[in-house]
Amino acid sequence: MTQTASPRTRVLVLISGSGSNLQALIDAQQSGKLPVELVAVISNRPDAKGLQRAERAGIPTQVVDHTRFDGRDSFDRALQQAIDAYAPDLIVLAGFMRILTEHFTRQYQGRMLNIHPSLLPKYQGLNTHERALQAGDREHGVSVHFVTAELDGGPVALQARVPVLPDDDASRLAQRVLQQEHRIYPLAVKWFAQGRLRMVDGRVFMDSEPLEPSGYPIDIHATL
Ligand code: GRF
Repeated sequence: MTQTASPRTRVLVLISGSGSNLQALIDAQQSGKLPVELVAVISNRPDAKGLQRAERAGIPTQVVDHTRFDGRDSFDRALQQAIDAYAPDLIVLAGFMRILTEHFTRQYQGRMLNIHPSLLPKYQGLNTHERALQAGDREHGVSVHFVTAELDGGPVALQARVPVLPDDDASRLAQRVLQQEHRIYPLAVKWFAQGRLRMVDGRVFMDSEPLEPSGYPIDIHATL
């Protein structure tokens, strides 16, 4: 009897900029630690550096330039069409800087992840590092969450914490957070692909256990 390999989870990545999180996924996939297929990278900006990272890795790329549409609805419809052509199982927002319509987010509920550089629910939106510093926080970090209609408001899958050091400025702090982003995003994608991480009725489950609002309590040293 011949054995057929189980089909790999088809992952599509949306970017707007540098794509260092995309690179972390590519590296993990290429080293064999992330058993998924990266089916395409779509950017809303033609000049996103992440597009070159995808091309170097041989991943199909596409640009859906938001400036060519007259509103969020028409942009999101075009984006949805572009995404659906690749029939992905999971959509990964990696520095994708567009607010998505409710209709769009509903299409992909439970199979769209985002990474946000704060310990959600703190500091939804922009300038998270500056805001953490201004507030005098001793601890900052990053969250991976499922995407819902509320901007940066979907339930958290996992978080990594970093200390705020006395001489930190926003860029030093951002660097430290980014290192953690590159560690936990491939983990979250792997766990989703393995069927361990799920969102059901607005709650996140890991290995069928419901998670606390702060997500899976990840070991600070855990890697893929
Ligand atoms: C990251 O800090 C991510 O958390 C935020 O945007 C930044 C994107 O960085 N959403 P990159 O494009 O992955 O380098």
